[in-house]
Amino acid sequence: MSGFVVAIDGPAASGKSTTARRVADRLDFVYLDTGAMYRAVTWKALETGTDLGDQTALGALASSIRLEFRSGESEVRVLVDGEDVTEELREPRISRAVSEVSSVPAVRRAMVRTQRNIGAEGRCVVEGRDIGTVVFPNAPVKIFLAASLEERARRRRRELSDRGVIQGLEALMEEIRTRDAMDSEREDSPLRQAEDAIVIDTTRMTIEEQVAEVVRVAQAALPAASE
Ligand code: DC
Repeated sequence: MSGFVVAIDGPAASGKSTTARRVADRLDFVYLDTGAMYRAVTWKALETGTDLGDQTALGALASSIRLEFRSGESEVRVLVDGEDVTEELREPRISRAVSEVSSVPAVRRAMVRTQRNIGAEGRCVVEGRDIGTVVFPNAPVKIFLAASLEERARRRRRELSDRGVIQGLEALMEEIRTRDAMDSEREDSPLRQAEDAIVIDTTRMTIEEQVAEVVRVAQAALPAASE
């Protein structure tokens, strides 16, 4: 069977990446982190000193960079034009600039084109902001992950401190709040829950519970999709 997409959307730090990666592992599906794609374009823009206000330049950059995803031990390595930038993509300087870069329509067009090509190839779990609404509106499984702002900031703090980056909870809450607002209020494909998405509020759930729930929903949809 080809082209079975499990779409997972949700706001910043809602647990999408961890959940999506583990669900993909459990189902033996390909995992695609579309946030990492926008972060990669942002990384390249900062690296080349591209003016973040220059939409034409950002569009050209997004169309020309070579993105590669390689499955590692516990994570997917991201390569931009041959350079492994996996760790750098999570740096606060990228998080701060990525909403501006991802709001540029020409950047989105280039990324969506790549996402659809990957999705057409087979079974995959795709996570982002507009996957169930814009990229794969006909996906057989659409999940929207939600969690309280404070819980999301706590999770982000833990994730950063595991990498040796210490940031206060208040500052993280402010950063996430700002990013959510930019992602939800932009004109082109804003963060929005698809009407037919299943909402899972993960505030009080463990990662294992989230994964189990998404796997259950996906497995229930699989037989129908292969008929
Ligand atoms: O999931 P993340 O934090 O890595 O995403 C980084 C940014 O990329 C996020 O602030 C909004 C943008 N994004 C997007 O606009 N559309 C997507 N499908 C995925 C991410």
